[in-house]
Amino acid sequence: MNDRTLRVNSWNGWDPLRHVLVGRADGTMVQAPEPAVQRDFPDDGFPLGSYGPMPAEMTAEANEQLDDFAGILQRRGIRVDRPTALDFSQQVATPDWTQESMFGCMPPRDVLLTVGNEILEATMCYRSRWFEYLAYRPVLQQLFDADPNMRWEAAPKPRLTDASYRPGFWETYNKVPLAEKLERVRNHDLVLTEAEPLFDAADIARCGKDLFVQLSLVTNRSGYRWLKRHFPDHRVHAVTFTNTHPLHIDATWVPLRPGLVLHCGERPAEPELMKYYEINDWEVVEAVQPASWKHYQRLSFCSPWLAVNILNLDPQTVCVEETEVHLADQLVKYGFEVVPVPFRAVGPFGGGLHCATVDIERDGVLEDYFPHRYGRF
Ligand code: NVA
Repeated sequence: MNDRTLRVNSWNGWDPLRHVLVGRADGTMVQAPEPAVQRDFPDDGFPLGSYGPMPAEMTAEANEQLDDFAGILQRRGIRVDRPTALDFSQQVATPDWTQESMFGCMPPRDVLLTVGNEILEATMCYRSRWFEYLAYRPVLQQLFDADPNMRWEAAPKPRLTDASYRPGFWETYNKVPLAEKLERVRNHDLVLTEAEPLFDAADIARCGKDLFVQLSLVTNRSGYRWLKRHFPDHRVHAVTFTNTHPLHIDATWVPLRPGLVLHCGERPAEPELMKYYEINDWEVVEAVQPASWKHYQRLSFCSPWLAVNILNLDPQTVCVEETEVHLADQLVKYGFEVVPVPFRAVGPFGGGLHCATVDIERDGVLEDYFPHRYGRF
């Protein structure tokens, strides 16, 4: 059935939110090892090499928080769609490889990038996530049918043969000293080779005409170059942060409204990026230490910086995980209304409030927030 009121439109992360996709925890797996990722939770029942579904009680609790979050958004008049989970425990294969399990569909932000009236399916680089786009196809099909202006795009499906990964990367990287790790991050000498374009959508921060693409454990230079050619009307920048495990920009560099970006001080930005923001009159604010700093979370592969993985409802209103009270206080001082959302149980399923969502519609137009050039920017 066509719904003429549906419209895909979002140029940044802060314009007033009208319609959003919220992930589900159903069937999420501790995925089987593969070249790009090797889970190792010896104290939580999943030592290196083992895999299987997340414990049922954790999945139920995460789903309860995701459903409650969807309810909070709906009560504010925001339309919410949800993905359709697949059997993520199944083996998957292409002509090039077989992978013993899939992953899940909690963090849709990793897979889908909305830029204006376009939703782009990212390549991904985990074999366990190769088919994850299928969980979002029912929503994408509905949007395509309803909105005659929606552009539905998919980046080239990668081959993900062994040529896409540095052999033995994790065994070596896990043992090298911190300074060497950071040097490798700055040089982007990490697990992915440049054999083909690879990127996760969550490595991209959208600020109107400027798109910032983090080179990371899941995004390579070739992926960045593909994005740059794909969005010729944007300024697309490759950026790195001093972070031993760069993986998704939205717990590191979080634009909150025109002129204000929250950043993680433990993961300093390149001086040139800082300067680009500063000469364009943006304030770069260092986030306070997360309240969850020392809280151990079973089966989680995320850091406490998930605290800053927040979702704007508009330029004055942000959803923040309810236990992150210090961050909430900090944001109130910057004039935000904070909507507290219980979400800790969702972390082990792949992220926070920003990871768990994809913009479908925000009220707003393409704007240039960076009129002044600096260095390579
Ligand atoms: N990988 C990031 C979270 C990304 C939203 C972290 O662990 O801090």
